Amino acid sequence: MRPLLRRLLPPFLLLPLLLLAAVLFSPSAPNPFISFFGSFSLEEPDIWSARRVVEWKACNWWKNASLPALPAKTNGYIRVDCYGGLNQMRRDFCDGIGIARILNATLVLPKFEVAAYWNESSGFADVFDVDYFIQQTKGFVEVVKELPEEIASREPYRVDCSKRKGQFDYVEAVLPALLEHRYISLTPAISQRRDRYPLYAKSALCQGCYNALRLNKALEAKGSELFKLIPKPFLALHLRFEPDMVAYSQCEYQGLSSTSLHAIEASRGDRKPWTGDAARIWRNRGKCPLTPKETAFVLQSLKIPTNTTIYLAAGDGLMEMEDFTAVYTNVYTKSSLLNSEDIFRMHGNTKAALDYYVSINSDAYIATYFGNMDKMVSAMRAVNGHYKTLALSRRAFANFTAIGLKGVELADALWKSHREDFVMGRGTALPDCFCEFTL
Ligand SMILES: *[C@@H]1O[C@H](CO)[C@@H](O)[C@H](O)[C@H]1NC(C)=O
Ligand SMILES: *[C@@H]1O[C@H](CO)[C@@H](O)[C@H](O)[C@H]1NC(C)=O
Ligand SMILES: *[C@@H]1O[C@H](CO)[C@@H](O)[C@H](O)[C@H]1NC(C)=O
Ligand SMILES: *[C@@H]1O[C@H](CO)[C@@H](O)[C@H](O)[C@H]1NC(C)=O
Ligand SMILES: *[C@@H]1O[C@H](CO)[C@@H](O)[C@H](O)[C@H]1NC(C)=O
Repeated sequence: MRPLLRRLLPPFLLLPLLLLAAVLFSPSAPNPFISFFGSFSLEEPDIWSARRVVEWKACNWWKNASLPALPAKTNGYIRVDCYGGLNQMRRDFCDGIGIARILNATLVLPKFEVAAYWNESSGFADVFDVDYFIQQTKGFVEVVKELPEEIASREPYRVDCSKRKGQFDYVEAVLPALLEHRYISLTPAISQRRDRYPLYAKSALCQGCYNALRLNKALEAKGSELFKLIPKPFLALHLRFEPDMVAYSQCEYQGLSSTSLHAIEASRGDRKPWTGDAARIWRNRGKCPLTPKETAFVLQSLKIPTNTTIYLAAGDGLMEMEDFTAVYTNVYTKSSLLNSEDIFRMHGNTKAALDYYVSINSDAYIATYFGNMDKMVSAMRAVNGHYKTLALSRRAFANFTAIGLKGVELADALWKSHREDFVMGRGTALPDCFCEFTL
């Protein structure tokens, strides 16, 4: 894949520009000029041209695992019950794959419980390709589509680990119930360390999560239709500035419209914003979502041209987007590209799958926050060798503005810290199944 800059330029312009860039960036040259909110100077290479030192890739220990045979006799059947948004459900399901293997159990298809979050129902098979999943996990973990007759009529015995804190052992905590009831439903604990799992269980998790989940045919076709409609090359941007996100962050912002303020207030519940010193410390720890205006500023600091085609991988609830589109003018969303009736008929879950599809296939991906979707997308981009992936640093932005940096100085500081993150593979570090490779 060719770098974004090179695709944006006719080849005959490239050499002189690179020479000019070399002059501008030599140690003795003055600071590169940046004209904010004006025309962008293409002489400057963007963030993706920085030479990386470290890259995250799928670890060889699971890509080429030599696995012990699966146990001849199963200890029972496990259904993973998943809640929240699409990528949170996937995270929990992935965890469940590893747990099933530790327990020498058989996995049945998970329950994707979406009603609470999306107000609709849409299960695993509505999103993912079931047969592909079963085929790709062969040898790693046993999976069945249908339960054996003698337990098919029963509801599973529920084991909820989601609230459990600290270290605990799945064999100790779950195996007795599995052996007794033969069929259980399980919600994994959120933050269990997996480094003590036996290698075959870790491999099952990695293979199941990153090499066995692809969208079902219908969604893949829709995703591909959407992808084809976006002018190339393009940057997929996951911008998180929705009322619930802002309310949850407990941050306060100056200069928001009254519509936004009302929407945030309505989502607040009992989470009151921090004030005074606590608010300042909170912000400097990088806890406050970047506004669309701040996001546009950071992207310009990264020398991403303002005429770059941007696909906004986000729902409809974004606030203050005019501040972003006033700077970056080529912005597309799925609702602007697809037939509105199509979109209207789709579930939140399947709509999220479209953003996921576009984001893992885009030339570049930038997240303003490193949440469940961003982790999943970064991982799949790493699997597919798309390295232009970056999470913006809210902490750096807060820090630099807190010490009074503005304009070109601020842009310069942001450029340096993000460049460092990109070069060193920081900010989008991936746990468990991925390893750092020195380039
Ligand atoms: C894993 O497989 C790939 C390609 O099949 C090969 O290049 C690599 O050397 C293998 N790694 C190990 C550790 O066996
Ligand atoms: C699973 O099977 C392996 C080998 O077949 C065995 O070593 C391990 O103790 C078993 N674990 C459980 C929880 O049954
Ligand atoms: C959920 O859907 C029902 C029926 O479609 C609707 O009446 C209700 O208002 C919705 N609830 C929320 C929270 O959107
Ligand atoms: C952006 O502007 C530059 C210079 O004006 C131009 O060469 C390039 O084709 C434009 N890119 C897009 C995607 O419009
Ligand atoms: C932010 O500021 C703190 C101290 O105020 C410092 O320790 C930290 O390294 C800074 N982080 C960044 C990303 O600049």
